[in-house]
Amino acid sequence: MRVLGIETSCDETAAAVYETGRGLLAQAVHSQVALHAPYGGVVPELASRDHIRKLLPLVRRVLEEAGLAPGEVGGVAYTAGPGLVGALLVGAAVGRALAAGLGVPALGVHHMEGHLLAPMLEPDPPAFPFVALLVSGGHTMLVGVEGVGRYRILGQTLDDAVGEAFDKTAKLLGLPYPGGPALAALAERGRPGRFRFPRPMTERPGLDFSFSGIKTHAIHVLREAGGEAADEQTRADIARAFQEAIVETLVIKCRRAIEATGHGRLVVAGGVGANRALRAALAAWGERAGVEVRYPAPALCTDNAAMIAYAGAVRLGAGEREPPAIRVRPRWPLDELVPPGGR
Ligand code: KG4
Ligand code: ZN
Repeated sequence: MRVLGIETSCDETAAAVYETGRGLLAQAVHSQVALHAPYGGVVPELASRDHIRKLLPLVRRVLEEAGLAPGEVGGVAYTAGPGLVGALLVGAAVGRALAAGLGVPALGVHHMEGHLLAPMLEPDPPAFPFVALLVSGGHTMLVGVEGVGRYRILGQTLDDAVGEAFDKTAKLLGLPYPGGPALAALAERGRPGRFRFPRPMTERPGLDFSFSGIKTHAIHVLREAGGEAADEQTRADIARAFQEAIVETLVIKCRRAIEATGHGRLVVAGGVGANRALRAALAAWGERAGVEVRYPAPALCTDNAAMIAYAGAVRLGAGEREPPAIRVRPRWPLDELVPPGGR
């Protein structure tokens, strides 16, 4: 099945075409980072308006790149949640309208299912089952993935997402939005051992996360180091200690998730999966523990429409259909999903 995928859940507008048996034919992403940067975070109303401006040109572009006329698309998949409601509605309305106009089925896809299945777009996709670590600006979870639609949430954050903790701490250190990559770069210049941050929720058993305490800890450490007056090296040392605590916490929880499930494979997805320190630490642990650790290519790790087109192709291809209503779910528990075609 040849599916047009649309992603507008947050601050990236994206379109892609995936064809079963052939793979990804084209994809394009427009990032709204510059639009939101002056505000230090995503402004939902601005996000919705920009999706309206950018989505159709992106759809035209990917169809052109794939060498397809609109009528050659066999289905449309769009992100129906979780995400910002106004932003989701843009993708849902455009996706539904296109599908209706073309006389093809449309399907609302779960954004996190998209992330979980993104590694399937790689030339050498991982076999099921695996444990997925999803680490993005909005989500932090460990999921046992037995197959498409067979997800067990093993643990998730009780407060901030890990990307959010990176972004908030970066802001505190005076770095521009989105702060994750900037903080990671600063941390590379930091010296080890000067500060030590807590490893939240690692002392007791369990797979849930909490990151708001780490952020609060950063506020105290920075204040004691002189606040605004703290020098560049001190900031770098704080960034390093912060990142080390996050990375070690994630590695501990991944190890527990692998032990709990008995799966021998870990797939990392979401924007924080681009973090080099995290990749290095997981790779080292994986080698020691005999666990295969996989990362989709960076363009598939961050928000994109290829993963939405893929999930849509699997579900639409299995005959899954929805009534032609424009419905989005800003909150949508992942474990409500069922395999394509029902249980
Ligand atoms: O998956 P993503 O692109 O978007 C969603 O949130 O869905 O993830 C973005 C998050 C942001 O919080 C960003 O700061 C973080 O991923 N991020 C990083 C790095 N690159 C992106 N965090 C730490 N280190 C990085 N290298
Ligand atoms: Zn995402």
